[in-house]
Amino acid sequence: MGTSQGGSKGSDATRDRPTAEHTGSSIFSATNFLLATRDSGYRTTSAAISEFIDNAIQAKAKTVDINVTKNLSDVHPIEISVSDDGKGMTESELSQALAFGGSARFGDRSSLGRYGMGLPNAALSRARRLDVYSWTTPNRTIRCSMDLDELVSTHQPVIAAPVETPRPADMEGWPQGTVVHLQRCDRLEFRRPTTIGNKLNKALGRTYHHFLSRGLQLSVNGTPVLPDDPLFLSGHHEHYASVFGESLLYELTTTAGSGTVKVTFTELPVEAWSGLSVQAKRDMGITNAATISVVRAEREIDSGWWFMGKKRRQNYDDWWRCEVSFDPELDELFGITHSKQQITPTRELTTLLSSDLEPIANALNARVRRRFERASRQGPLDDAACTAAMRSQSLPQLQGTAPASTPSYRFEVGEVLGTSAFTVEANNQDLIVTLNERHPFYRDVLKPLAESDVPGERSTAKGVALVLLAMARTEASLTKQSERTYIDFYRSGWSDVAATFLNV
Ligand SMILES: Nc1ncnc2c1ncn2[C@@H]1O[C@H](COP(=O)(O)OP(=O)(O)OP(=O)(O)O)[C@@H](O)[C@H]1O
Ligand SMILES: [Mg+2]
Repeated sequence: MGTSQGGSKGSDATRDRPTAEHTGSSIFSATNFLLATRDSGYRTTSAAISEFIDNAIQAKAKTVDINVTKNLSDVHPIEISVSDDGKGMTESELSQALAFGGSARFGDRSSLGRYGMGLPNAALSRARRLDVYSWTTPNRTIRCSMDLDELVSTHQPVIAAPVETPRPADMEGWPQGTVVHLQRCDRLEFRRPTTIGNKLNKALGRTYHHFLSRGLQLSVNGTPVLPDDPLFLSGHHEHYASVFGESLLYELTTTAGSGTVKVTFTELPVEAWSGLSVQAKRDMGITNAATISVVRAEREIDSGWWFMGKKRRQNYDDWWRCEVSFDPELDELFGITHSKQQITPTRELTTLLSSDLEPIANALNARVRRRFERASRQGPLDDAACTAAMRSQSLPQLQGTAPASTPSYRFEVGEVLGTSAFTVEANNQDLIVTLNERHPFYRDVLKPLAESDVPGERSTAKGVALVLLAMARTEASLTKQSERTYIDFYRSGWSDVAATFLNV
C-alpha cells in the first residue's frame, strides 16, 4: 500500500495544506548559515586566497599583488588585500559578487570559476569583514562590503548596494581593477605577516606555476612569486627533469560536456641530484614531495598519489613526477567541490587511468633504481668532480681558459712523484687531481669512505673530495712561478705532517 507524495492521505480538501500556525519559512537561517559556512573548509589560507586569484585571472588581470599587513588592533590585527588589474566589476556585478551563489558565470565550464561561491566563502573562511573595491574606468571606484558581526547583530542578511568611494591607496596606475580586502582575520594558521606572506608565496608559486611561467605577475608583500614547477621541467635549477614518453590523452564525456585528461610523466636528473644533501633535496622539493600533481583549468588543485592501482609509493618514486591535467567539464569525474582544493576521483575514472598509469609507474620506479645503482658505482669521487664542475660556473673564470668554457675536474689514483698526498695538473680548463695511493690520506681515510656501503660515509667522501678539488682549483689559479714553488713546498710539507699524524 503506497502513500501519496508528501506523506499524507485524504481528500483534496485536506491534502498538503499549510497548518494554521505555520505558513512557511525561509529555506535557511541566513545568519546561522554565514557562521556555519565559515567551517566549510579551505584547508589553508593559500587555498582561500587562490579563489581571489582565480577571479583575477578570469578578469584577465596581468598583475595580482597580495599584501599581508598588521594594524593596531589587539584582537584581530592581520589584514590581507588582493589587488588585480583585471577588467573590474560594474555595480550590478559587484553586488552579485558578494552573494553566495552570485556569479556572472554560474555553471560555466570554460575556466576556473563556476559556483558563485568562491569570493564570499573564501573571505569568510578567514576574516570577519570583507570589502571589495572595483573600478572599470579610472575615475570611478565602487565598494561593496560584508561585515559578519554587523549581519549577525542586526539579523539583516542583506548586502548593501555598492557605494562610490576613493580608490584604495597605490592603485592609481591601474585604469581598471579590483581589490579584495579582508579585515578582522580570525582564522589564519600563523600570526606574523611575514610568516603568512612567505607561506603564501611558496604555495602560490606551485598552484599557479603554469600561469606564472606564461607571464602572470604575482607578488606577496612586494616579493615576486616565482613559478615552482613540480614536474621540474622549468625553474631556477642547474638541471631539469626530462619528459618520459608521450603524454597520454583521454577524451571523456560527463553530463556537463566533453573534456580532456592529459597525463604527463617526467624523470628527475638522478645523476646530478642524488648526491645532494638530505636537506637540499628536501628544500628543492625532490623528497618529501607529492609525486602526482592534479591540474584543473591550468591551476594545481591537489597533489598526492592516485591512479596507481596496487602500486604503493616507495622512495624511488621521489625521482619521477606525473601531472594529471583536466578540463572543468570533467569535474564530476574528479569529484570537485566548490572550494576547488582537492579531488575525490570516481571509481570509474580511477579504473580507467590506473590500467595505463600503474605499469608506467612501475617502469619509472625500475628506471630510477637502475640509475641510482649506476650513479653509486660511479662513486663519490666522480660525483664530487661533477658537482665541482657544475658549481664552478658561479666562480670567476680561471686565468688562461677560454671565455664561457666549463671547467672539468677528474680524480686519478696512482703513484706520484715524492711523498705528496696528491698532485694537481691543470691543462687549460681540465683539472686533474692525482691521489697518492700509498699516502695514508687516500689509503686509510678517503678510500674506505668512498668504497663504504654506508651512504652517509660515501657522502662524507664526496665532501672531502670537494675540499680537495677546491684546493686544487685555488692552486690552478696561481700563475706566478714564485707562487707555484711556494705551493709545492707547502703541499709537500702538509702531506708529510698529515702522514705522520695519520700513521700514528
Ligand atoms: N577580481 C575580480 N574581477 C572581476 N570580477 C570579479 C572578481 N572577483 C569576482 N568577480 C565577479 O564576482 C563573481 C563571483 O565570484 P565568485 O568567486 O564568488 O564566483 P565564481 O568565480 O563565479 O565561481 P566560483 O565559486 O567557482 O569561484 C564572479 O562571477 C565575477 O563576475
Ligand atoms: Mg571565483
